[in-house]
Amino acid sequence: MRPVILDCDPGIDDALAIFTLLAEPGVAVLGACATVGNVPVDTGYRNLRDLVALCGRSDIPCFRGADLPLVRSYAHDPLIHGENGLGGVEIPQSEAPEQAEHAAVATCRLLREAADPVTWIATGPLTNVALALHLDPSIRERVDRLVVMGGSTARGNVTPAAEFNVWSDAEAWRVALNSGVRITMVGLNVTQQVACNEEDFAEIQRMPGSVAQAAGEMLGYYEGVSLREGWGEAKLHDVVAVLEGVRPGICGTMACHVDVEIGNALGYGQTLVDDRAKLEETNCEVSMAVDAGKVRRAMLSAIASF
Ligand code: BDR
Ligand code: CA
Repeated sequence: MRPVILDCDPGIDDALAIFTLLAEPGVAVLGACATVGNVPVDTGYRNLRDLVALCGRSDIPCFRGADLPLVRSYAHDPLIHGENGLGGVEIPQSEAPEQAEHAAVATCRLLREAADPVTWIATGPLTNVALALHLDPSIRERVDRLVVMGGSTARGNVTPAAEFNVWSDAEAWRVALNSGVRITMVGLNVTQQVACNEEDFAEIQRMPGSVAQAAGEMLGYYEGVSLREGWGEAKLHDVVAVLEGVRPGICGTMACHVDVEIGNALGYGQTLVDDRAKLEETNCEVSMAVDAGKVRRAMLSAIASF
């Protein structure tokens, strides 16, 4: 079994990524953590617990993490994921007890306790990840790969320079990139190639079960916003990162040196990807290509499996 820890900010595409992760055979999810990002952390934590319960996996411990980025302030923008983070879709509340342990503390413990090196997947800002890396430097040895949705080799989506997850906490990205942990970046340059098309959407709507119903309703909202804003079909950003985490190689990667702009200027949160770096200078495997069809099919069969 591949041990996995998920850190996320649900979020509609995070929700679809959670469905995809929990349906994947051969994966043991040791814990799932919520961070501030698409929604305030209390909302994200509630969504995470409810989504995990909807999949019938209340046995997976879920932890509440950071409520603020490391340095900057936080303001919730409901445009893309709605006020409740799930496009207004209501799912049954989890009956699993809340965990008192902070996500960063729990992550350190889970990494120390794991029998094998862990795949750590982050589909939100890296605030919890950075906190954990500072709390216990020994965990770096316990991470097989840190697979992150964020950044871009090209332009951003929140600003011309920056992608949302990095822009939300660029300092946290700096911490991760300087930690020596093996990182795989799954950025907009690949995730924007993976969209849920009309046939996929229709297929989900025909599927029975409460996971498919929630997925269909959330996607309906997400697609509506995406089309209205002129961004085209709904992009499955976080699903791509989760699949790269559990099916390494679904993205074609290249070893690069990546740094992040943290200056208080227009470029804040930009990922600077140097694909000219010599191998010994590289700190990140950067996704350069993706098999979009494989990702879409994997998500569809995951949703159908519940
Ligand atoms: C990222 O930003 C969030 O809105 C999504 O959940 C995804 O993780 C894409 O830029
Ligand atoms: Ca996300």
